[in-house]
Amino acid sequence: MGKKNKRREIDAESEAEFVATNDHSGDSQNANKKEKKKKQKNKNQNEIPTVSIAVAASIIDNVPTLELATRLAGQIARAATIFRINEVVVFDNKSIPGQDSTVNNSDDESSAAFFIRVLQYLETPQYLRKALFPMHNNLRFVGLLPPLDAPHHLRKHEWGSYREGVTLRERDSNSGATLVDVGLAKHVLVDQILEPGRRVTVAMGTNRNLDSDLPRQVVSSSKPREEGMYWGYQVRYAHNISSVYKDCAYKGGYDYIIGTSEHGQIIKSSDLEIPPFRHLLIAFGGLAGLEESIEEDESLKGKNAGDAFNIYLNTCPHQGSRTIRTEEAILISLQYFQEPISRTLQS
Ligand SMILES: C[S@@+](CC[C@H](N)C(=O)[O-])C[C@H]1O[C@@H](n2cnc3c(N)ncnc32)[C@H](O)[C@@H]1O
Repeated sequence: MGKKNKRREIDAESEAEFVATNDHSGDSQNANKKEKKKKQKNKNQNEIPTVSIAVAASIIDNVPTLELATRLAGQIARAATIFRINEVVVFDNKSIPGQDSTVNNSDDESSAAFFIRVLQYLETPQYLRKALFPMHNNLRFVGLLPPLDAPHHLRKHEWGSYREGVTLRERDSNSGATLVDVGLAKHVLVDQILEPGRRVTVAMGTNRNLDSDLPRQVVSSSKPREEGMYWGYQVRYAHNISSVYKDCAYKGGYDYIIGTSEHGQIIKSSDLEIPPFRHLLIAFGGLAGLEESIEEDESLKGKNAGDAFNIYLNTCPHQGSRTIRTEEAILISLQYFQEPISRTLQS
């Protein structure tokens, strides 16, 4: 993924970090330990749980035209947004990581790279796209897609406590401060000197006067989420199903992983109990399902779906069509999981 888009790295900030000490005396060491434990507990309590989905990149391979592939990626982006998904992991079935999955400027990119590009493009507020996404043949049909209309996709006349912006080359002539295009009639000054072309989240404060010289604060992209807002999804690539878990960007990894399939267990949504989690992952396979992804994964040799996931579920029993397509299964399943997830988060 290009430098300009790298800002959406998962914020490790919300993760607990112990303060190192050089004091090795017994009492103070114990006191420090207690203090550390207390801090860790408080931080864990404040941590906002996340829900990720993993989707097989191969779903793009089976689409005959660029326009239809774009529409398919758009459907996944809308499903993720409707259900407030925090992370979308696009995975391949490769035994070793390759270079061909990163988003680059060649027209001939892999299905995964294409999928990631469209997902990231749609997640980016419209006013930032020109600055953050160079023209690319694979974005030729994105204009046909319905917008995500997410809370961070604010319009020019709308005021929000946070706005996504891009840092500009041009500096404020008086203070030398970095200017940020936040999609308003005027650029705003921020409290940090940052290199141009970076996507940032800006706390807009209470001063609505855009002529004011008061710098606005650049905050972590997780800040709006900590205040209960849905602030889009991150996108990540995994070369196979096991690296979806192993390379998890959240500290501590996913603590509950759900696989979906017509071969899974049938449990009524109202009876499903998801244990308390910090980072939940729900996986969706391609044409041949998650079972093929497990079979083709060297590090899952001899394992079946029951071993690879905490639970393997059929979220649409008694289907009338012989197959439910991945994009359909994502919508059906995320609706199915909505109530069990809310119950867990409220308990
Ligand atoms: C075309 S299906 C793959 C078919 C395959 N026999 C299966 O379900 O494992 C593509 C994906 O849609 C999802 N899916 C399809 N039917 C489902 C069902 N009844 N319940 C949950 N997920 C389903 C799964 O993630 C599956 O990997």
